[in-house]
Amino acid sequence: MTSQDTPTTPWLSIILAAGLGTRMKSALPKAAHAIAGRPMLAHVMATSAEAKADSMAVVIGAEMNVLCDITQEANPNAKCFVQNERLGTAHAVLAAKDAIQGAEGHILVLYGDTPLVRTETITRLLAALDGGAAVAVLGFEATDPTGYGRLLRDENGALLAIREENDANEQEKAVRLCNSGVMAFRAETMLKLLERIGNDNAKGEYYLTDVVAIAREQGLRVVVETCDEDEVLGVNDRSQLAEVEAIIQKRLRAAAMKNGTTLIAPETVTFSYDTRLAPDVIVEPNVVFAPGVTVEAGARIHAFSYLEKSHVHAGALIGPFARLRPGADIGEGAKVGNFVEVKKATVEAGAKLNHFTYIGDARVGAKTNIGAGTIVCNYDGFKKHFTDIGAGAFIGSNSALVAPVKIGDGAVVGSGSVITRNVAPDELAIERSEQLHVPGWAARNRKKHGK
Ligand code: UD1
Ligand code: CA
Repeated sequence: MTSQDTPTTPWLSIILAAGLGTRMKSALPKAAHAIAGRPMLAHVMATSAEAKADSMAVVIGAEMNVLCDITQEANPNAKCFVQNERLGTAHAVLAAKDAIQGAEGHILVLYGDTPLVRTETITRLLAALDGGAAVAVLGFEATDPTGYGRLLRDENGALLAIREENDANEQEKAVRLCNSGVMAFRAETMLKLLERIGNDNAKGEYYLTDVVAIAREQGLRVVVETCDEDEVLGVNDRSQLAEVEAIIQKRLRAAAMKNGTTLIAPETVTFSYDTRLAPDVIVEPNVVFAPGVTVEAGARIHAFSYLEKSHVHAGALIGPFARLRPGADIGEGAKVGNFVEVKKATVEAGAKLNHFTYIGDARVGAKTNIGAGTIVCNYDGFKKHFTDIGAGAFIGSNSALVAPVKIGDGAVVGSGSVITRNVAPDELAIERSEQLHVPGWAARNRKKHGK
């Protein structure tokens, strides 16, 4: 049995997200801002789920319904609690008192604006409680400790208290071991400790961090676990949002390469939290994976392509400069070339859409060739309509297929046609005016102009 299979103590995840995020200068609450295509709050909830949280409580501010929606979508069993006045981190945690009272085992406090905490770190913190501590604090060595609570220890390294920046003296300010904000508690003692927290401090707030000194006074054991600074980077403004994005992108690229994907210039590829690339996929520079993309083995995504909610089957070639919009399903070995857009359409195995094409609300049958510049006219200004193109068909360049319309298997459409009626299997359909020839006209015309 590995440690991961060991039955663990049940635990409740409390995520604080009532902060206004004033420095974001945004209409959105801070924790709703996305990294790698998903709200920060949903990242923290996903990490909690991965670390096997049994229940989740999210503390939001008044008029933050969007955070409730995110919570429900990420986990329908999670509960939202509203902290109406913003009186500090301990006050925020107590907004979820009902959840705390109902909890057994451990309780972990996380922040909705600190989305990079790793599953293993959470597991480690919880294990410290299993080892007998009443409180476990996640600390880190800060490059610049300004603004953070300092972890004050005795000569044996035992944690005595956490001192907030505004309440610290010069000697305390020199401490670089800081509080990440992540803290774990044994459920049975947590409320008793929290209810003793006052607000007699520089900010007049109820500090969750005071719990350390209170637990010590009661003779309870308090421990510190540490992690990298990167992991506990919080987002307060747009620059930090970009910093956190850069770190998560790095992690996602490393995971993709570890899994067998070639990234020719990893630092130029943008992933989403849920991008799934099979081994032997090759991704060229400057590709963006918006949420919901799966790419199967041996497919190649050429440079400057943008993919969203799409499925690329084995061996398919996408791009350069292709755009796969939601609902694009590109079959095995199919080719989607430069400046081609596919939306809500199935392109079956071996079909080719090589140049300057739009295919939306459609099916392109196996091995069909779509000529350069062909478009499907799927929208009549009111409604979308379907275009069904059979297998082994050939659509001549610069054709317009006006939906709803059906092109049978093996049919040929002459180039430049505007097709408004169904074409039967193996038929040739051509719709263009006849070509006129006037012998000698060009020479006469030049002469008239003196050339
Ligand atoms: C807090 C810690 C500090 C730690 C730092 C790490 C306290 C007293 N201080 O300070 O030791 O080094 O985080 O970033 O805990 N929140 C609410 N309601 C509130 C207050 C805060 O939901 O009434 C939420 C915020 O949305 C945020 C988190 O709690 O996600 C932290 O709050 P913030 O005000 O940023 O705390 P800091 O002063 O940074
Ligand atoms: Ca903060």
